[in-house]
Amino acid sequence: MAVSIKSHRELDLMREAGKILNFTLRTLEKEIHPGMSTWDIDRIGEETIRSFGCVPSFLNYNGYPASICVSVNDEVVHGIPDKRHILQEGDIVSLDAGVIYKGYHADAARTVAVGEISADARKLMDVTKQCFFEGIKYARAGNHLNDICKAVANYAESFGYGVVRDLVGHGIGTHLHEDPEVPNFNMNRRGMRLRPGMTLAIEPMINAGTWEVEWLDDDWTVVTADGALSAHYENTVLITNGEPEIFTLNDSL
Ligand code: MF3
Ligand code: CO
Repeated sequence: MAVSIKSHRELDLMREAGKILNFTLRTLEKEIHPGMSTWDIDRIGEETIRSFGCVPSFLNYNGYPASICVSVNDEVVHGIPDKRHILQEGDIVSLDAGVIYKGYHADAARTVAVGEISADARKLMDVTKQCFFEGIKYARAGNHLNDICKAVANYAESFGYGVVRDLVGHGIGTHLHEDPEVPNFNMNRRGMRLRPGMTLAIEPMINAGTWEVEWLDDDWTVVTADGALSAHYENTVLITNGEPEIFTLNDSL
């Protein structure tokens, strides 16, 4: 599939999807507390998305059974919400969600703390978020895709962290996953040239220990192979001739 360049009309719809998604994730960050279940998070998230007349894009995507991916501690991504999984003080929780507004997608993730967390956990969360911002310094027309990938990886590795290789960021638009793939590791080739109107979901997944991951028997939940903590931070971004526009950090709702 060729990489699509979005029209102004399409970008307006993605912008709206991005605002609604950011509002949803902010709502979840405020609501999260020890004693609630990961299923409670999914309920609040789905209700918030639907309150805007939007559709949660993850629900039933390749059979995924919920609207919000809730991944706790050593879970990297795609944790399945569960009434029996109760959040504890000290957990770190990755919240990943997707919104469809009038046929256009936004995709974003945040890792948040439950109550007081360890200094090590805080550092992993902060570095993972900063990995995204290191990457988007290169997210502009004329640069190549690997400029972003390399910047994310170099920053994470400078802290001795493991960069997940089995899952990658992606183009986004009328589909949740479009070309190109956006790895968080150095591809050792330039990759495609970035053009204005490309929309990318850039999503570092960073482990405190090894980069290696495993899949649980539920066929979804990805965990670190060594049981160390993992964090995830993602936004949907528009490539322009200047600064990129981050659709899913728009606080105007
Ligand atoms: N945010 C994830 C991604 O970027 C999507 C989760 S997969 C799903 O690929 F099945 F839960 F939708
Ligand atoms: Co994504």
